[in-house]
Amino acid sequence: MTFDLFDNLAEAAPEPAIEPLGDGAMVLRAFARAREEALARAIAAIAEAAPFRHLITPGGFRMSVAMTNCGKVGWVSDRTGYRYDPVDPQTQRPWPAMPPVFAELARDAAARAGYPGFAPDACLINRYAPGSRLSLHQDRDELDLDAPIVSVSLGLPAVFLFGGLRRADRPARVRVAHGDVVVWGGPSRLAYHGVAPLADGDHPAFGRARLNLTFRKAR
Ligand code: SIN
Ligand code: FE2
Repeated sequence: MTFDLFDNLAEAAPEPAIEPLGDGAMVLRAFARAREEALARAIAAIAEAAPFRHLITPGGFRMSVAMTNCGKVGWVSDRTGYRYDPVDPQTQRPWPAMPPVFAELARDAAARAGYPGFAPDACLINRYAPGSRLSLHQDRDELDLDAPIVSVSLGLPAVFLFGGLRRADRPARVRVAHGDVVVWGGPSRLAYHGVAPLADGDHPAFGRARLNLTFRKAR
């Protein structure tokens, strides 16, 4: 990753704007841009301690998105199911602590979206290569469904799919670019969502990849 381009990117950043996505759901455009360099460094440090890996679904499929975690618990999948685990099954060590820049960004974004006091204990870090996708799903492995989900996009742009409370509800297709933050909670907390296959490209700071930080209150 290179950092010398961040200043130019910051100058070109659009005015932060809020785009409604549904009842209790919205996109905060460019909300994470001011912290992009600190976020990139923190992701690199986390990946040193807890490497990105392709998890296996309970059905036996290898996920195209590579994942790691930081925080008190991490989201993992294997043949036995999905769970939050305080220990990284690959390293047998606790997940790296959540960096303050992560926790502060998540709290600030949630507050901006109308969810004050958000204190996530889990951050799933997703890495998409060109062609990687995430099929429609609900985030429902968390005990506390009152807390929102805060999802930060970095690197290559993607098409975020945001549906309704039923799998069959046709999802909206929303372009999410570097620095955009999607927040959903309240009546939208269990909305189906996913990511369309990533188009190839070359991001100045993240190269041929999209990174996503998903903050949750799991416990
Ligand atoms: C997720 O649902 O865990 C990730 C969504 C995204 O990558 O935008
Ligand atoms: Fe999700």
